[in-house]
Parts: sequence; C-alpha cells; structure tokens
Amino acid sequence: MTAPQTSPEKTILRALAGEALPTPPVWMMRQAGRYLPEYRATRAQAGDFLKLCYTPELAAEVTLQPIRRFGFDAAILFADILLVPQALGADLWFVTGEGPRLSTLSDRAGLDRLKPVSAIHETLNPVYETLRILTGELPRETTLIGFAGGPWTVATYMIAGRGTPDQGPAHALMRENRAVFEALMARLTEATVEYLSAQIMAGAEVVKLFDSWAGSLRGEEFHRYALEPAREIIAALKTRHPDVPVIAFPRQAGEHYIGFARATGADCVALDNSVSAEWAAAHVQVDGCVQGNLDPRHMVTGGPELVEETRRIVRAFSGGPHIFNLGHGITPEADPDNVARMIEAIREPGA
Ligand code: CP3
Repeated sequence: MTAPQTSPEKTILRALAGEALPTPPVWMMRQAGRYLPEYRATRAQAGDFLKLCYTPELAAEVTLQPIRRFGFDAAILFADILLVPQALGADLWFVTGEGPRLSTLSDRAGLDRLKPVSAIHETLNPVYETLRILTGELPRETTLIGFAGGPWTVATYMIAGRGTPDQGPAHALMRENRAVFEALMARLTEATVEYLSAQIMAGAEVVKLFDSWAGSLRGEEFHRYALEPAREIIAALKTRHPDVPVIAFPRQAGEHYIGFARATGADCVALDNSVSAEWAAAHVQVDGCVQGNLDPRHMVTGGPELVEETRRIVRAFSGGPHIFNLGHGITPEADPDNVARMIEAIREPGA
C-alpha cells in the first residue's frame, strides 16, 4: 500500500496512514496504571481514581509517566470509558479491589432520567483540559491518543451497574425491551461522537474506540450493536475531522475482525491476543494498519518467551502497517522491567 508521508517524526501517524515502518511504533493499553510505582503515588495524592481522572494536572502527570520511563511512541489520555455514563447522569464509583459500580438502567424511566447529550461537557470539561495540558508537554515525536468506550461496552456497565463476566443483563434487556436497549445505544452513540469530537478539538491526534465486550455479540447482533455504532461514530467524526485517524478495538471479534476496517471506516483495527498474528496479517492487515497483540501475561512472566513472542509478532506484521501493543491492558502485577525488555526487543536492529 502506498501512502503519503505525514508528520515524519510521529511514527504512529505514519503507520496509521498506511506506512510499513522498519520498526513498528509501540504503546501499551493501560500504560498508565498500578504496575508503576509513580502512578500509585500520584493516585494516592489524588485520593481516588475518579479524582485523578477529573484533576487535569494529575491526569496529565500520570499520562506522561510511562512516556518518561519508557519512551512510548504514543501517550493515551488518562481517563475512563465510564465517565460518559456519569456525564449522562448515572452514579459512578469504584470499589477498591473490585472495580466500577454504577446506578443500573433497565427501563424507560431510567432512560428518561438521563441528561441530554448536550449536557455531557459540563462533567467532561476537565478531560479536555487534560488534553490541552498534554499538547504542550509531550515530546514532538509522541502522538496523543484520545478514547471512548464503544456504545455496547458502555451499555453493558450501565445496564448491569458493574462489570459482568458474560454481559448477561445487557443481553437480557436487548431481548426483553429492545426499544429501551436501542434508545440507550443511540444516546451513547451520539454522546460518543460529541465526546471524541471535543477531545480532538482539545488536542487528541488520534482517537480509539474500546469495545471491550464486542466478542459477546454473535452474528447479526455483532453487526447491529458493534459494527454499526462504530461505523456511525467514525462517519460523524470523519465529517468533522477528516484528517484524524480512528483505531477501533472490537475485542474478541474473532472472524468479525475480517473486513471490520473497511465496513466501519476505521484507519486501524486493534487485535486482542485470541487471534494469531500470522492469521491477522493474512486476513486483517490486508485492509490496512493493525495494532497488537502480545498477550499481557508476558508482562508478568517475562523471560525468553517474552522476547520470542515479541519478535514473532513484529515479524508476522512486518509486511504492512503495524503498531505494536498488547492484546489487552497491562495488569497491576506486571513488572516494569518486562515492559522495557519488550520495547528493546521491538527496537533492536534486525528484530
Ligand atoms: O490505557 C490507559 O493507560 C489510559 C486510561 C484508561 C483507563 N481505563 C484507566 C483505568 C483506559 C483507556 C481505560 C479504558 C477502560 N475502562 C475500558 C476499556 C479497555 C479494557 O480494559 O477493556 C474498560 C472496560 C474500563 C472500565 C474500567 N475501569 C474497569 C472495568 C476498571 C476496573 C478494573 C481495574 O483495572 O481496576 C477500571 C479502572 C481503571 N481504569 C484503572 C485505570 C488505570 C484502575 C484504577 C485504579 O487506579 O485503581
């Protein structure tokens, strides 16, 4: 694939424009997080996770920490996909050691209680301020990535009021009250467009859509509730910001990864580690840039296997545009030294 050369110093933007680089650029999902002692210190200073998200100076600080320590090619905004439900009026809190809790939404009355999409910026303004701070502080070669959750993934948390292993409550609402379910999906799709557009205006150079639970949607449901909302969001963003690339992450999409970029207009598809890099190179990378997909467990276990797996993934995707990443977020038990080893293995000559 031939592509124009964009911002030569920003390798992430070059890969997203379709360039196969001799060394793939690299960043990591959840790169700002509890595996880093400096993150834990700043989080303690903030008091709790949501305070950290809504205090722009501290959110910018934790965004920068992994860039300073490892020299990643991209910085991802520090925030959370669940700030959107909160901005729409849901209650949100985090239980230490357990994860997020929200007020639940299961009927028309719950839907009617949500705020209009135009009200989200009142809550989300500090996130835009974080981006504005970061645009002045990042090294010139580092790309700033904004993000939001996919409507289906965000809906699963809003409906159940928490994370669920099988997204059962959201599937149940979809079957039992499709009108309410689809109205919620429409509200989230619209809110996501406004949120990502505001992030771009505040300085995000790329945006990523995290549809972490897309894999629990089967057949036609995947098409209607993962692919179609992504297509709508990307089309609306491209009308307003034609030059800003979008990365889509329909996690555990399996066979549905094939053609996803073409069908949605995404510039890049992020791959989880349930698909092999060799399969994805043959079936997904043929359409353009891919991101992924080292198993995050290697950040805990390390050793020669980490280096071998990293090299194998680099090799498998070397024929086309590729951004190196993990298949999912790095976990709190990970050893920062293993992150450094992964980066070394990617950047060593002749890897
Ligand atoms: O990647 C980054 O470094 C940027 C920041 C970021 C966070 N969450 C910070 C965070 C991003 C991009 C997210 C996305 C997110 N949040 C997703 C989609 C990606 C995925 O992991 O599948 C989801 C599903 C959420 C919702 C969420 N936030 C859960 C389920 C949890 C609890 C699980 C956990 O790891 O504790 C969170 C909390 C959260 N979001 C933390 C961080 C750093 C840990 C909070 C803490 O410091 O205690």
